[in-house]
Amino acid sequence: MKTIKDFDLNNKKVIIRVDFNVPIKDGVIADDTRIKESLKTINYAINNNAKVILMSHLGRIKEENDKLKNTLKPVSIRLSELLNKEVKFVPNTRGEELENSINNLQPGDVLLMENTRFEDLENKKESKNDEELGKYWASLGDIYINDAFGTAHRAHASNVGIATNLPSGIGFLMEKELNNLLPIIDNPVKPFSVILGGAKVSDKIGVIENLVKKADYILIGGVMAFTFLKAEGLEIGSSLLDSESIDFCKNVLKEYENKIILPIDVVTDKKECFITDITKEEIGYDIGSKTVKLFKQYLVSSKTIIWNGPVGMFEDEKYCNGTKEICEILKNIDAIKIAGGGDTASAIKNLGYEEYFTHISTGGGASLELLEGKKLPGIEAIK
Ligand code: 3PG
Repeated sequence: MKTIKDFDLNNKKVIIRVDFNVPIKDGVIADDTRIKESLKTINYAINNNAKVILMSHLGRIKEENDKLKNTLKPVSIRLSELLNKEVKFVPNTRGEELENSINNLQPGDVLLMENTRFEDLENKKESKNDEELGKYWASLGDIYINDAFGTAHRAHASNVGIATNLPSGIGFLMEKELNNLLPIIDNPVKPFSVILGGAKVSDKIGVIENLVKKADYILIGGVMAFTFLKAEGLEIGSSLLDSESIDFCKNVLKEYENKIILPIDVVTDKKECFITDITKEEIGYDIGSKTVKLFKQYLVSSKTIIWNGPVGMFEDEKYCNGTKEICEILKNIDAIKIAGGGDTASAIKNLGYEEYFTHISTGGGASLELLEGKKLPGIEAIK
């Protein structure tokens, strides 16, 4: 697969698809990791005299009202600060102003086009990979570089559509993600453990089905643990349950009972206790200290660890201990340690453990689908 380094960028109009889908609250960017992670590719293009055209989506656009809170304008300001250079923001996704601005670019200039999903208002053109739209955007450039790993599981006009109409390659962020994730999927160094958390089992059925065959242990925390515990026949009080996934959990537990490791105690809204001591009214929000010790036994001997999904409701200080303890255990382990998913990444960062990980993926859904063994359309289109 070609990378940005395989192209002569000099004086060329280079479209770089980035994933600037960052959390923005009241016009303020809450986490700029994805912007920072894109800088290497953008700077490389600038330094090689490309005329840089950046495209990204932000949020989901279903009605006209969604546009205001999902404009990329604040991103252009932050990017300009990080690059220490003017970033020309064009508030359209097509038309004369965009085309003229692109034609006026000088080598080394950077332009950011408005949110690609503004095109979704009319027949979901971006999200349904409208042929005309992909062709039109491709006509704006000479070369296409896809560096939007977080969006690689989508087949949209701004990734698959443009790639089918222009000479294409991947950027440094995409390359880094694939270099870190693919070897684990293909050939993990053993023992190999997976920590899964988060809310719904149904979101992770594919990952569990694929990884349970390759992993030595799957340690389950978060809300999804309660569905597994229920499937084992235990009472879980009023804890959240993904009832549609109970049969799936039963089957996995039956076939892989030695691999699936479930919590033995829990922190509820009232107390910390053994799972068997939860009362009807109580809700479990975090794994307990005995479970932390249990998980530690499996993790210390592991040589590859993948973590997707916090093991408790870490946003609330009362319930962040389990997630923090997992970070602390991983900090002291010499293994390949990969974390993925927006919540997991922000938990690790907020708790200050970022430096102890081999790789923290910028992709949530994309890293999960890759781990499921699926081919990602954004990457296949480049190939
Ligand atoms: C993400 O944040 O997972 C990506 O940017 C994709 O966004 P989407 O789920 O809205 O397609």
